[in-house]
Formats: sequence, structure tokens, C-alpha cells
Amino acid sequence: MIGLKIKKNMANDARKMLLKLSYINLDAKIKRENGYVVIPLSDEPKKELLTELGQGNVEIVDTTFEIQKRKPKSLKDYLKGKMDARKIDEIRGSFDIVGDIVILEIPEGLEEFKTLIGKAALKFTGRRAVFRKKSEIKGIIRTRELEHIAGEDISETIHQEFGSRIMLDVEKVYFSPRLATERKRVADNVKNGEIIVDMFTGAGPFPILIAREHNVKIYAIDINPEAYKYIKRNIELNKVQDKVIPILGDVRKVLKEREIKADRIIMNLPGAAYLFLNYAFDYIKDGGIIHYYEFASDFNEVIKRIESAASPRKVKILNKRKVKSKSPGIWHVGVDAQVINNP
Ligand SMILES: C[S@@+](CC[C@H](N)C(=O)[O-])C[C@H]1O[C@@H](n2cnc3c(N)ncnc32)[C@H](O)[C@@H]1O
Repeated sequence: MIGLKIKKNMANDARKMLLKLSYINLDAKIKRENGYVVIPLSDEPKKELLTELGQGNVEIVDTTFEIQKRKPKSLKDYLKGKMDARKIDEIRGSFDIVGDIVILEIPEGLEEFKTLIGKAALKFTGRRAVFRKKSEIKGIIRTRELEHIAGEDISETIHQEFGSRIMLDVEKVYFSPRLATERKRVADNVKNGEIIVDMFTGAGPFPILIAREHNVKIYAIDINPEAYKYIKRNIELNKVQDKVIPILGDVRKVLKEREIKADRIIMNLPGAAYLFLNYAFDYIKDGGIIHYYEFASDFNEVIKRIESAASPRKVKILNKRKVKSKSPGIWHVGVDAQVINNP
């Protein structure tokens, strides 16, 4: 490989200029020898540039360089050289990490490479297990089919999020790490002394975070017995036994039986929360806030639905936002609505 040999005291300026002009071979390491520096080049610079760099004191040499060990920057980088470049392009570079577990998508046509991709994901992320999505999120309990493709065959893990420790089984309970910022946003709005209902709590990431940050009472409700098992564990793990009350059951029945009146209700069941809006308004206090979520393309219909469920009471829309993308043109949207007693 060719290199530019230059006196040590002139090397830094030369390196900067060569880098700017894309002459440096970044796969090789610069070397130092007897008061000189040798910069690896991918191309020979023109005579005028050599003169400018070293005023006659530079030399182009043919030599060997140590190869730069560069850490791959992405899952796709890890696969380079192991798979056809066009096939690598078909892979989605993004994936979810839940605790020790990586969950990724592998397109239909790349079935035969699933172990290779899984092993690359394992290496790249340094996690313990890799699963592939086998279905959409579906059913009442909102889980998806997963296929284990690399690493240990474990589906239970502890996910850390803003200091909360959330234990769950990725095959048995819904959890999305992409909602972390949303959960933090909601938690930051809570005031001490509130009574809160998390209607669809899953493994309990909303109530755990809120209870860790505030002096409140939270009813954490879910219809999935596995979610109930984990919310109970997570209450202990995060030492919030005096603040979070886990309840297994259909939220409609639970609210009716317990006659809870809440200052704040969280409704994170975006595919079906609209079916529960009337119940939420039955149990929210005047002045209380509902955090409502839906899959929608814009906010108009969502807000109309909230206003109609609140009627005859009025609501003030405090905030509306796109939480994350669901599919092209469709968003998981969040709307915060406050019940106004004296509009
Ligand atoms: C999208 S997950 C939300 C999980 C959680 N809020 C989170 O941020 O990870 C919705 C949850 O609602 C629960 N669910 C569905 N219908 C329900 C009902 N009628 N009553 C109580 N929980 C219900 C499901 O079991 C599921 O765990």
C-alpha cells in the first residue's frame, strides 16, 4: 500500500488536508518511524499537493500498514462479507431490545439467513437472545408470535427504563421499549396525592415509573394473568408495594366493583381504547386527566370521540402528539384530555 512519509512536526497539518481531500485509506493505521510519520493513502496525490504539504520534504513510499480494527457500526455492517450486499439491503436495520433480548424482523425471502442474522444481532448488541417477529401484535392480550433464532432460548428478562426494572416474558406479555419517552412524559405530569388508574397495565411500566417518582396510589389493571404475575413481581422489584395495587380482570368490571374515582386514567390500548372511553369518563373526577391512545392518521376524529364520550361534561385538550409510527400514514397518537367542571 502506498503512504505519504512526512516529518513528524509537519504530519498533523498534512493528515488534516489529506483527510479533507479523501486521500487517506481509513482501513489502515498511520505509522511512526525515526522522526517520520507514514500516512496510508488510497490514491497518490498530485505533485502540486505534495509540494504544498511538505515543501519538498515529503515522499511517497510503498510499504505495509497495520489494518485498522474498526467496530461495525450497525447490524448490517456485521453482515458485510457474509451475505450478498443486495440481501443485506432488504433487512430492516432497526430492532427492539427488551432487557437481554433482541427482537427483529426478517423478511420472508431471507428465511435461510435467519441464524446468520440472529448471530450477527447477538454480536452487535451483546445481548443474550435473539427472537424474530412471526406475526403482528394481536388478540386481547396484545402479544405476538416470536421465533427464537440465536443465543440462549430465554424469553423472560428484566428491562431497565428510566431507573425502573421491568421483568416480563416477551412471549406472554405486551411490552414496547419505544414507549419509554411517553411513559416518562406522563410520569412527569403526575402530582403527589393523586389516585391513578392504569386501565391496561401490562407488566406495569407506567405505574412503576410513576410510583417511583411520586407519592400516589395507582390501580394497575390487566386482563392477562401473565401480565398480573409480572406486575406483582415488578412492584416488589421496584419496592413500590405501598403505592401500586395490582388487579387481575376486565377493567370494566374492576372499575364497577371497586367504584374507584381517579384523578388520572391511563388508556394505553391504542387498537381498542375507544371502546373503553365511556368507562373512563364514568370514573374520572372533575378536573381529572385522561391519557388516551389510539391508532389514527390525524387527531380530529380522536378528539371528537373523546368529546362525545365526555358529554355532557366538557374536556380541555391539554396535549396531543404522535407517539410512534404504526404503519405508513398511521400513528400511535396520544391525547391528554382534562375534564372541566366549570367551563
Ligand atoms: C398495549 S398493552 C399496554 C401495556 C402497558 N400499558 C405498556 O405500556 O407496556 C395493552 C394491555 O391491555 C390488556 N387488556 C386488554 N383488554 C383489557 C381489558 N378489557 N381489561 C384490562 N386489561 C385489558 C392486555 O392484556 C395488554 O396487556
